Order: sequence, then C-alpha cells, then structure tokens
Amino acid sequence: MTPSDPGAATAALRFPAGFHWGAATSAYQIEGAAAEDGRTPSIWDAFCRTPGKVHRGDTGDVAADHYHRFREDVRLMAELGLTAYRFSIAWPRVRPTGRGPASARGLDFYRRLADELLAAGITPVATLYHWDLPQELEEAGGWPERRTAEHFAAYAALAGEALGDRVTEWTTLNEPWCSAFLGYGSGVHAPGRTDPAAALRAAHHLNLGHGLAVSALRSVLPAGARVSVALNLHALRPLTGSAADRDAVRRIDAVGNRVFLGPMLDGRYPEDLFADTAQLTDWSFVRPGDPAAIHQPLDWLGVNYYTPAVVSAAPEGADPAREDGHGAGGASPWPGADRVAFHQAPGERTAMDWAVDASGLYELLTGLARSRPGLPLMVTENGAAYPDEPGPDGTVDDPDRSAYVHAHLAALHRAAADGADVRGYFLWSLLDNFEWAYGYARRFGLVHVDYRTLARTPKSSARWYARVARSGVLHPPGTV
Ligand code: FCB
Repeated sequence: MTPSDPGAATAALRFPAGFHWGAATSAYQIEGAAAEDGRTPSIWDAFCRTPGKVHRGDTGDVAADHYHRFREDVRLMAELGLTAYRFSIAWPRVRPTGRGPASARGLDFYRRLADELLAAGITPVATLYHWDLPQELEEAGGWPERRTAEHFAAYAALAGEALGDRVTEWTTLNEPWCSAFLGYGSGVHAPGRTDPAAALRAAHHLNLGHGLAVSALRSVLPAGARVSVALNLHALRPLTGSAADRDAVRRIDAVGNRVFLGPMLDGRYPEDLFADTAQLTDWSFVRPGDPAAIHQPLDWLGVNYYTPAVVSAAPEGADPAREDGHGAGGASPWPGADRVAFHQAPGERTAMDWAVDASGLYELLTGLARSRPGLPLMVTENGAAYPDEPGPDGTVDDPDRSAYVHAHLAALHRAAADGADVRGYFLWSLLDNFEWAYGYARRFGLVHVDYRTLARTPKSSARWYARVARSGVLHPPGTV
C-alpha cells in the first residue's frame, strides 16, 4: 500500500468499544402484511393506490415480507455482526385508525421482534413515526392539524408502555422535513398535498408531536431509557461566494434545518424563517406554550445523511433549477424559497443521482458538536442505492456500496477525532426495500431481496461491513 493509496490513511481506523454498529429499516418499507392482524391503511397505502404517484404502481403490501420473516432477518443481522438495529413501529398496526384501542396482535409483533434481537445480543432502536400516518387521521386533516400531534403523543405512550421493558432506545420522528415538505409541499410523498402553508403547519405539528411524545415516553419508560429524534439535516454549499448565494444557503438552512433544530433544541423558531414565509402564513398556529413543549431534553440526536446540496440565488426571470434530490414534483418543497436554485453537486453519483461526498457528513457532525456541545450524536441513516443484481453464480457484488460506506465511516471517524461525540452508525438499509415514490426500483440493502421469491442474499458489502462491525476497525473494502 503506497502513501497515495486512499486506503492507506484509513487502514487502521479504530472505533471505540461500545460503538453501535447498526443497520436501519422502516415498517412500511419492509414489513408487508399490510392488512394482517388488524393493521389499517396508512397514508402510504392510499398514496400507492393513487395512479401515477409511485413507480409502476408498486405498493408495500408484501414488501420484503419481514412481518413473517423477521426471525430469519434477525439471524442475518447476527451473522453481519450488528450490535444494534433501527426499525420503526407502524402506528396503524399497533393503534389501528390512529386513535382507537391498541392492537394486542400488533404490539406482539414488536415484542417478538425485540425479544429476538435481544436474544441475539442486538440493541433494538425503535422509531415511532417513519411516515405511515393512519389514513383515518389524514382524512381528519393530517399533520397540518394540531390534533394529530396529540394523537401521536398518545400512541407514543401506548407503545412505550407496551415495549419499554424491552426497548431502551427510542426515536420519535424520522425526518420530519420529508413528512412536512415532501408530503404537503411538493406532494412527491404521501399524502401528496401541494400547499406550502399546510406544509409549514405540518412542520409545526410534527415538532409539537415530537415534544409531546418525548414527555409521554419519559412518563412511561423506565429510568435509563433514551429518547431521540432523527433529522435529515441538509449539508449546504453556496454555488459561489456571492452574498446572494450565501443568502440562498441561509434560507434553505432555515426551512430545511433550523425549522426543527430551533424549537427542538433551543425552544424557539428562527426569526428569519418567519420573515421568509410571511407571505404564506402568520404562524398563528404556534400557541404560546408550544415552543416550551417542543423543547425537551434529548439523550441523543439522530443524523440522517446521504449527499450535500448546492444552492444559489435564481437569476431574475429564470425558472429556478430544482435538482434538490427529492424527486420531481410540480410544486416546491421549499416554502418561501422560490428564488433559490438547486444544482447537482460534483462527483460520482449513486442510482438516486445523489453525489457521493462524505465531507457533508463531517461538516454536519462537527458543526453540531460545536453548536450543541454535550449532545451525543448517532448517524441514524447513511447509505447508497446501486443497481445490484445477482451474477451467474448467484452472488451480488456491490463494491460501490462498500466504497461509499467506507468513505462515510472514515468521515465519521475524523469528525469524532475532531470532537464530535458520535455513538453509532446505522447503515441504510439492512434489506433492499420499498423506496417510497421509486417503488422497488432502487436497491439500498446490504442484503439483496429477490421480490419474486423473497429470498435474501447478502451482498459483498454485507461481508465487508460484517468484518468492520466485528473488529471495530475500518478495513478498506477489497481487503476482505
Ligand atoms: C431517507 C428515508 C429512508 C430511505 C432513505 C433512502 O430519507 O428516511 O426511509 O428512503 O432516505
């Protein structure tokens, strides 16, 4: 190995004992069994059935059939040397219709899953909301309605009470930015509404739901349980150093990052966000006690990161470029930022067309360490889609994924050396699964899923990741 070999610099990177080596999934993307044991439809069941919304009309009806195969999947996790597993609980499975009585059968599934994980020495990390709002609550107004936040807190208490004896790591929301702005702004995600003012109301009620759920969880969970939230923070770069491009960064930072970080971690919304969106709403839906209710102490913050975003001011009269990486919709997911253009970041791209650039992860982690000293961090999602298919001998070779993960783990390690208190890494995803509006046409898994037979085949990246997880040393890929 020569000094110019990029592997040389990272050959001996060692992670601390106790670092969580994980993988992540979510309920609707893998479980299937959509109408079993009392589960009621979620907004994604409805969205998938709306013509033209999801690639080829794919649905999560069967997905990876994890609901029936979870024992096999936990065995796979154990073979991969995982020490933690991040999954989500389906609200419409454990509290059908969103506000009715709990479903014992639904809760039992997660009890069995947690038991299986614990028996394999794998820490369960449960997310309460990974985008599957019960359809009945959407019909009552969805996240733009305050009541949804209250229903969410009641569901959190119910889940915490039922599973708190087994699950100690809890996350309230996954990526509320996507729920609010892709769900109610650009409409590329369920429920598919395109109303910027409703998207801002949704963001606030997601924040409120988070705060109320943290309090509800703390009142039912045993001491020692830890509560968190997972945000898809945008790592932003101005296209040029001009004042106008720097202001574009500020605007996207406000409506992409600080709209959640502000109330959750500081107990207040950023003033510039109010000013940027004043033509859409007066924010009177934020009631006086809300910021304090949202501002709850967190035990750790989850950071989901895939790619950076490059933004600029749009030239007068031109239609702003919309390569923001979230799928094309007729409407924008960025309220108050109509004059901001998005540009493709340079470098190699994944099958999502997302640029591979691990420096964004380093910047987010070290930025949080500086601005929020003392707050432990966890990378709750990071990974890449590639068009993986089995070769003639049945094996799946995905060197691009190993290279992607290697680069991001090296960036995480560097951020930790520079002061970020990062406790774990959850690779998205354990299995190939239902990738939202892209249906089954994007594969993010360490493990290949044949959707005809539902057979699981660990890819070469899985073998490499297993070696890293087992040794706690970041071996360069290709050395396994
Ligand atoms: C994140 C989602 C996750 C998955 C990855 C690729 O935004 O949280 O469910 O779709 O992107």
